[in-house]
Amino acid sequence: MKKLTDKVAVVTGGNSGMGFSAAKLFAENGAKVAITGRNKKTVDSAAQEIGGHSIGIVSDVADLKNIDAQYDQVTKQLGKIDVLVVNAGIYIAGPTADFTEDMFDQVSDVNFKGAFFTIQRALPYLNDGASVIITGSAAAVKGFPTIAAYAATKAAVRSLARSFSAEWIDRKIRVNVLIPGPIDTPIFDRNGMSQEETDNTKALYASLVPVKRMGTSDEVAEGFLYLASEDSRFMVGGELILDGGVATL
Ligand SMILES: NC(=O)c1ccc[n+]([C@@H]2O[C@H](COP(=O)([O-])OP(=O)(O)OC[C@H]3O[C@@H](n4cnc5c(N)ncnc54)[C@H](OP(=O)(O)O)[C@@H]3O)[C@@H](O)[C@H]2O)c1
Repeated sequence: MKKLTDKVAVVTGGNSGMGFSAAKLFAENGAKVAITGRNKKTVDSAAQEIGGHSIGIVSDVADLKNIDAQYDQVTKQLGKIDVLVVNAGIYIAGPTADFTEDMFDQVSDVNFKGAFFTIQRALPYLNDGASVIITGSAAAVKGFPTIAAYAATKAAVRSLARSFSAEWIDRKIRVNVLIPGPIDTPIFDRNGMSQEETDNTKALYASLVPVKRMGTSDEVAEGFLYLASEDSRFMVGGELILDGGVATL
């Protein structure tokens, strides 16, 4: 049975990795999906691959004008929003002693400030009863070296889900967090590292996961679908951990 028939869903960072897999699964479940990202080429090709009623919008979550424009376009083309996946994110790692203000600002602007305003600016465009899902990270639950700033942005969004859920409970808007462990996506290729360093990082993360492998975007997409659909209607301000045991074992 299709779980999102005629629902309107927005997935930020839907042109790659987990966001793309979630958007595709939403569309397969009957949703009209808008995906966003900064790269026009991949936004367009991803929207085409998702098919159905999907649209692609070039938008940077670190720019509030972009966020307003994206919602204007979504509601004009698809209607008011039932599902919002706040997924756009960047991963910046490096020894804390060498971590620059610029690195700090970049990761905060996208992962924390971007998430805050992606949700705040959506409010007038969300239907009552909407499901908002933020992509967190197991890095916010457990300490790992060299990713203090990234992990803190992901800890911050756990707090946002609880505060926002409490504030909009009368509108029945649910804000939950999906917490992935290490997932094999292009995010590790965008960190300015050499291919060898990227491979070593991925091998290290896989070795830290109790099930001894990274997860896949498709495995995580099933979690996004659960949180987006009525199946999770009693889950409010909560967290779904899909991490191969890395945060808890
Ligand atoms: N992979 C993991 O191990 C892992 C684990 C836990 C949590 N996460 C989180 O999962 C989310 C998705 O990451 P992923 O692993 O699927 O990586 P990904 O394939 O690199 O996807 C990241 C997405 O975010 C978009 N994005 C980045 N900055 C943006 C901005 N300023 N404005 C709009 N879109 C932006 C990217 O598109 P453009 O480049 O076109 O903008 C891309 O679509 C992120 O929030 C990440 O922190 C990942």
